[in-house]
Amino acid sequence: MRMAERLLCCSLIVLLLCSCKQSSSNQEHSDYYSEQHRPEFHFSPEIGWMNDPNGLVYFEGEYHLFYQYYPDSTVWGPMHWGHTVSTDLVHWMHLPVALYPDSLGYIFSGSAVVDKDNTSGFGSQGQIPLVAIFTHHDPAKAKAERIDVETQSIAYSLDKGRIWTKYAANPVVKNPGIRNFRDPKVLWHEESKHWIMPIAAHDHLEFYHSPNLKEWTKTGEFGQSHGAHGGVWECPDIFPLRASNGAEKWVLIQNMDRGAVNGGSGAQYFVGYFDGTTFINDNPPELQLWLDYGADNYAGVTWFNAPKDRRIFISWMSQWFDYAQKVPTHPWRSAMTVPRELSLKETNAGLRLFQLPVEELTGLRSDTMTIVKQEIRDSVTIREATTLLELELEFDLSSSTATDFGFVLKNKLGEQVIIGYHRIDSTFYIDRTKSGKSSFSDKFARVDSTPYSAHSTMKIRAFVDVASVEVFVDDGRLAMTEIFFPNEDFTITQIFSNGGSVNLQAGRIYALESIWKQRMN
Ligand code: FRU
Repeated sequence: MRMAERLLCCSLIVLLLCSCKQSSSNQEHSDYYSEQHRPEFHFSPEIGWMNDPNGLVYFEGEYHLFYQYYPDSTVWGPMHWGHTVSTDLVHWMHLPVALYPDSLGYIFSGSAVVDKDNTSGFGSQGQIPLVAIFTHHDPAKAKAERIDVETQSIAYSLDKGRIWTKYAANPVVKNPGIRNFRDPKVLWHEESKHWIMPIAAHDHLEFYHSPNLKEWTKTGEFGQSHGAHGGVWECPDIFPLRASNGAEKWVLIQNMDRGAVNGGSGAQYFVGYFDGTTFINDNPPELQLWLDYGADNYAGVTWFNAPKDRRIFISWMSQWFDYAQKVPTHPWRSAMTVPRELSLKETNAGLRLFQLPVEELTGLRSDTMTIVKQEIRDSVTIREATTLLELELEFDLSSSTATDFGFVLKNKLGEQVIIGYHRIDSTFYIDRTKSGKSSFSDKFARVDSTPYSAHSTMKIRAFVDVASVEVFVDDGRLAMTEIFFPNEDFTITQIFSNGGSVNLQAGRIYALESIWKQRMN
């Protein structure tokens, strides 16, 4: 059986499993997804290689997550769009591959929209079409070192994203003579009654617009002299967001494949004004703002049409050049971050993007423990037998004499990941130098840190899965995401203070449930 067919079978089996689970008791557990390093509350593919999130769209009660997918191997290859859906952004149901490579090339990253007014004409008999907009990447042209490798194409679905038909007249945007020309992220711009499409074009963005998703006209460019340029610009996103001071702003996310804040792949953003054709950056062009200061948060974009105007963001939890294709997982590679809700808040430095895990994740809390207010010196063990955790800690820095403080995840083998704030250096860090397996890359065992000026109290919230930690500081002002591969799961959690003391004002630790072993609701 070909791998792709096997995958379809697997998916059908999972669908059956899921529906069985729906009718069975809450207590019932299965061994599904129990490999070493398999994330328990993050999305990961059953088998094969995954990178970017694609086609994020909410439609008729379902959040769709498509993703860059190569089912036949655990390294990158001919790209497909894998597909999963969720009704709550927490539990995911695997669906068959949505888009396969074809004569125009691999199916690279892109987006999806609900064409509710049927501007495309793809709708029929009152069925609202979902339209996917993606890059066709021609591997033969790439091999021949041609420039016109990438073009933009569309496909549509009339059955809630299950079956997709590619448009017969693809591509809808030809290559304009730019080698890296990809990752269209389409939105509806109500003021101009047009679809808007930013496309990453090597070292800048190009904006196109269209009345019908089929005919596109270039309207402008942004970015050649703005932000970071250490690598190729990929996977853009642009959306309006009302700031905490009431201002209507636009946020432009621009991922970059290397040379980002922690050396690898990363997501920068800009805040400004957009009239449907031109983006004006509110900040000085040289200012670099990043969505996440850890090593493993890339290609993040947001959902189209999320209810209640929520701006929900998700990323690939890895990074390209240092180790993505070498991490020790089998028979799959890579996971997504948890979905995060973005907001724009006033800070002393101006408007900044804040992010917190979506509130739906609180539904995974199974057991809560309050940590009493206390002075921390050296270390205090707060958990000894739990791997999946959400942690909330609030420290009082005003009387602290510590050089650094924070929390550490450990196992009995002495492996550990340290997450802390260095009070003297004013840096926040994740230290995974002794986190377990790392021989697959000499870039993996390392400390990532970022300047951070704390207030008199510091709140740390963290989500810990089998192979990752996502840290949100001071209600999401700073985010850091990192992956790790301990030889035995980390089950011990300690709070620590080095070189002096720090007061823990309040603390709570929640054991989380696995999304794969629970009843699917
Ligand atoms: C980003 C990226 C995109 C491209 C895709 C290919 O990680 O390089 O620019 O469309 O991955 O898989």
